[in-house]
Amino acid sequence: MWSASRASLIGLVMAAALVGPMTAHAETVAMIGTGNVGAALGRRFAEHGHKIVYGSRDPSAADVRELVAVTGHGAVAVTQAEAAAQADIVVLAVPWSAAEDVVRTLPSLSGKIVVDPTNPRVTASDGFADYPPLEDSNAERIARLAPGAQVIKAFSTLGFETMLDPKVAGGPVTVPIVGDDRAAKERVAVLAREIGLEAIDVGPLRHARIIEGLHYLRANAYGGRINYHFPRDHARD
Ligand SMILES: NC(=O)c1ccc[n+]([C@@H]2O[C@H](COP(=O)([O-])OP(=O)(O)OC[C@H]3O[C@@H](n4cnc5c(N)ncnc54)[C@H](OP(=O)(O)O)[C@@H]3O)[C@@H](O)[C@H]2O)c1
Repeated sequence: MWSASRASLIGLVMAAALVGPMTAHAETVAMIGTGNVGAALGRRFAEHGHKIVYGSRDPSAADVRELVAVTGHGAVAVTQAEAAAQADIVVLAVPWSAAEDVVRTLPSLSGKIVVDPTNPRVTASDGFADYPPLEDSNAERIARLAPGAQVIKAFSTLGFETMLDPKVAGGPVTVPIVGDDRAAKERVAVLAREIGLEAIDVGPLRHARIIEGLHYLRANAYGGRINYHFPRDHARD
């Protein structure tokens, strides 16, 4: 029999479906690096209730203190090693060429999720952005240095301006995610969805080189940078 309580339960279920996956719990996220990406993701994740621990080479620098203040929500800045030790999710928002050295200086990352947003790139002789002369992805190299960690490639395919405000893209933007642990990928996908991005699990970490390659299409696109939106192929449902 129809009842008011049944109607309100259905309403709640429909509302939950409309807003999409909810945060399971507040994460503690270490942002290693306080530049464009570290600051953008740190500020946006904090808005959704996550604790941000910035890891900086100089946590007392004026610009880092300012970032902590604008991030709010209990954010702090400490050394890179201290930040990694305190967090469940560690984002390596550092230059691609520094990432491996950074990981070597961090305490054990075993049991943590390590998010790699880096874009390995060199400029080829014809001026185009290109793969560095390395055989595998930065993400796989990082994974080899972090036994027991779940390394996830994510957030490398969009600009920090879009991380700060997805509306500037003028349409939906997808964050393709690869990694070897489904649950870890979903925790990262939740963070992306909360800040207004679409997120899709597109496979194992060994395909990170494909994700890294998307940077070259984006950077080399004739007429200006592009964004990626990957709608589901409902013809294959
Ligand atoms: N910019 C974008 O739109 C964008 C988009 C997607 C992905 N990415 C990738 O994300 C990563 C970060 O990009 P970004 O634009 O944020 O770079 P960025 O503005 O240069 O910031 C990188 C931060 O890493 C730290 N850092 C710099 N050199 C370091 C070193 N040698 N060792 C350890 N830490 C160092 C610094 O923070 P402290 O001074 O606090 O230590 C610096 O602010 C890059 O790998 C990039 O390819 C960038």
